[in-house]
Amino acid sequence: MSITVKFSKKENGFPRVKFVFKEDLKRGRINGFDTGKIFKGSEFKGDLFQFFPLRISEERTYFLLMGGGERAKFNGDSAFKAGSFLTIKLKELGFRNVELMVDFLERDEKLVLEFFSGIFYGDYENDFFKSQKKENNLTVYIASSSHDKVFRKLIDVSRKIGVNVNLCREFVDLPANHINPITFVDRVKKLLKGSDVKVDLLRLKEIEKYNLNLIKAVSGGSFVEPRLLILEYKNSKDRPIAFIGKGVTFDSGGLNLKPTAHIEDMKTDMAGGAVVFSLIKLLSELKVKANVIGIIPLVENLPGNHATKPGDVFISHSGKSVEILNTDAEGRLILADGIGFSKRFNPSMIVSIATLTGSAVVALGTLRCAIFSKDEDVIDIFKRVGDEIGEKLWPLPMDDEYGEELKSDIADIKNIGSSRFGGAILGAKFLENFSEDTPFVHLDIAGVSDLKSKKPYAPKGGTGFGVRLLYNFMREYK
Ligand code: BES
Ligand code: ZN
Ligand code: ZN
Repeated sequence: MSITVKFSKKENGFPRVKFVFKEDLKRGRINGFDTGKIFKGSEFKGDLFQFFPLRISEERTYFLLMGGGERAKFNGDSAFKAGSFLTIKLKELGFRNVELMVDFLERDEKLVLEFFSGIFYGDYENDFFKSQKKENNLTVYIASSSHDKVFRKLIDVSRKIGVNVNLCREFVDLPANHINPITFVDRVKKLLKGSDVKVDLLRLKEIEKYNLNLIKAVSGGSFVEPRLLILEYKNSKDRPIAFIGKGVTFDSGGLNLKPTAHIEDMKTDMAGGAVVFSLIKLLSELKVKANVIGIIPLVENLPGNHATKPGDVFISHSGKSVEILNTDAEGRLILADGIGFSKRFNPSMIVSIATLTGSAVVALGTLRCAIFSKDEDVIDIFKRVGDEIGEKLWPLPMDDEYGEELKSDIADIKNIGSSRFGGAILGAKFLENFSEDTPFVHLDIAGVSDLKSKKPYAPKGGTGFGVRLLYNFMREYK
């Protein structure tokens, strides 16, 4: 399946997709049709995710009416979801060509961008292992009067956003026997070939040389060596922002083995790393004026002869000693070394993004992602941007008193708290220790990185949450 957006010069006779808001229904007429007659006996009320094929003759379905909800509430979030829903619906119904009437976007650049990002987002299919793939291609024609230069440029940007978010989803969805630390790197290298992104890689020998001992400790039980992937994209003279993404390609829990239920979901535990990669690829394709470093520590967390044992102590890259009391709190360990390593680039801010804790999911469910920072202005930007585009956040506290629980009897810090309360906060406080005096932001995406069941605008599986959020954050943050 692949979707193409084209610009038509003249009437092409393809079915026309038209957005209908609740207000339009109240007005009683749509394109000369009497709404009372059209929707008589139907459930269609113009709500978001409602779809109504309007047959105007026996052989032709001429208008495809899409609900937009209340006009006043139609924002970037709903535009994105509507776009994705439209693609999914048109694919499902087997349409090959449609003409899209874009007047409902009112040439609002943000709405256009989000709507078309959604159109491309809807193109994703987790069918990598299906021998029968859906092959129907869909072409969306944009009606004449709309395709000026600005509009075309916006669609090009949207396509790049959609494609890169979908790449992130692919990483999240692929099983752990297809994405491990080695094959993650192979894919990234291939996908970044010829781009402006500099790729550096530390293998086991260098990981040992640089004392990235926490990364080595977590990967000890696995046959597959750890890696530290470093991506650099520099298109400004500012100090870099460092993005550290958790890259646990499978999290069994290690010797603190996870129970059977849902352990298979832990193939998604590299979502943070996938976000960092996709973000940097996107920033470079759009030539965004920014200086960013991506650090992705990659490991498999397995029990094994050489696995870390609960109670072991390791000296981190930064020199702080860490007592590992639970091998399932492994994300914070590899991120701690990633954060420590990022300091050599003299970043102005460190942002970690990770499927870090089940506790974040308990706190916020699967709608909003937890954000942690002591900088309220940064939180405000993230929150506003997240609400606008539909990757929503909610702040959790960072009081230093929380960190008291992480004091170890025998080392500088331990990797779990003394109680089972406030687990997401403790994870963030643990990481903050390694950022030291550099401004620090942490996103716990455990609840939002994949959907457990399908939505009208997305299938079950990887969501790519974080790519659009961080891209928009980078555009707003100066
Ligand atoms: N990868 C998990 C967190 C997770 C849970 C992600 C559910 C996605 C969905 C993480 O490594 C983990 O196991 N965290 C433990 C920490 C605990 C041992 C302190 C948790 O949250 O239970
Ligand atoms: Zn774990
Ligand atoms: Zn994990």
